[in-house]
Parts: sequence; structure tokens; C-alpha cells
Amino acid sequence: MLIESERILVRNWNIEKDTEAVFRMYSHPDVVRFLGRECLKNHQEAQEYIQRLINHNEGFGGKYGSWAITERSNETLIGNILLKPIPGKDRVLTEHIEIGWHLARPMWGQGYATEAAQTMVEHAFETLALKRLIAVTELENKASIAVMKRLGMSYLGPCRDFYDGLLLEVFEMYSYQSVPL
Ligand SMILES: CC(C)(COP(=O)(O)OP(=O)(O)OC[C@H]1O[C@@H](n2cnc3c(N)ncnc32)[C@H](O)[C@@H]1OP(=O)(O)O)[C@@H](O)C(=O)NCCC(=O)NCCS
Repeated sequence: MLIESERILVRNWNIEKDTEAVFRMYSHPDVVRFLGRECLKNHQEAQEYIQRLINHNEGFGGKYGSWAITERSNETLIGNILLKPIPGKDRVLTEHIEIGWHLARPMWGQGYATEAAQTMVEHAFETLALKRLIAVTELENKASIAVMKRLGMSYLGPCRDFYDGLLLEVFEMYSYQSVPL
């Protein structure tokens, strides 16, 4: 996978290149606050995490998974953008395809999440020919809700259908060709 837009590249994970930056990103408490997991504690945990992402992507034949967002100009790791079937409350993957984003803390407030998400939405609708995407987040995660709104997603309301039955706000968007009349 390699997609680019004005300021960013979206590419496959690389343990050698990404371990240090992934460690810095996911050892920041602000970044993991709404992700339902602990901060990474060391480089070994970062390497294992990246390996799990790589395995996960391979399990989906490269179609779904999560990818590194990097700066086009200098390859600095900006964050993580994901597109994948969302797990239901029993953790079994559902048919709904979720888009999501995590940025390293110093990269917040520069429009990178929205730019990466717009790039991924285009890929999902034009290259993968998906008809609909959803995004979920906790109500308190205002920054993530703001990304969903900037993308033009519609608010569906709260539900407990995904991620272990956690109360989550759900947004959706349809591809231009499949907007329901
Ligand atoms: C959710 C998250 C990715 C949002 O990051 P973000 O930086 O607020 O979102 P964007 O990258 O789209 O940036 C938008 C902001 O950059 C500003 N901005 C600055 N320069 C910009 C530019 N060139 N283009 C667009 N926006 C720009 C926007 O005005 C906006 O600012 P505001 O928040 O004050 O309104 C980030 O908070 C995060 O990583 N959280 C931790 C992980 C997480 O919880 N993920 C979601 C799980 S559901």
C-alpha cells in the first residue's frame, strides 16, 4: 500500500524504520487515552505491536488493516490510519468497515488526521469500491468527532454494538455512487 496526498504518504509498516516513532507515539498518555490500552513501555513492545499490525494487514491480504502516515518531505512518522471490519460486542468482526486515526502527540492540530482520512476515504470508495464507512468514538473524544464532522460523516447516535459493548458514538458516510435516495 502506498497512497499520497499533498503533505503525506500512507505506507506499510516497517519495523526497522518505525519502532522508535511508534514507541514515542503510543507511550504518550494523551494518544492512548481513548484506545482502551496501556502506554507502550519499551521498544520491544513497540516492535511487537508493529509486527501485530503487519500480521493483521497480511490476514486481510493487504485490503484492510492499518498503515503508517508519514510526512512526504522528510518521512517523519505522523500517525496511524486504519480501515478494517469493526469488531462487534463479542469481538467477532462485523460486515461494517471502520475508518480510524491516531496521531503522534506533536502532530495534533495541523490537519494531518483529516488529510489522511480523506485520502483513505477516496481509496475506500474509488479503489476498493466500498459503499459505506463508519467511524466510532467515545463522546469525550471531541478531537476525533471533529475529524468525523470535517470528513462530512453523518451522526447516527450512540450504540453498544461494537468493541466489547462499549458505549460509542457512531458516524457513517456513503460513497457518492451509493447514497440512498
Ligand atoms: C483524534 C486525533 C487524530 C485528532 O487530531 P487533530 O490534530 O485534532 O485533527 P487534524 O489532524 O484533522 O487537525 C485538525 C486541527 O488542525 C488545524 N489545522 C492547522 N493547520 C491545518 C491545515 N493545514 N489543514 C487543516 N487543518 C489544519 C485545524 O484547524 C484543526 O484545529 P482545531 O482542532 O483547533 O479545530 C488526535 O486527537 C489523536 O490522535 N488522538 C488520540 C488517538 C485517538 O483517540 N484516535 C481516535 C480514536 S476514535
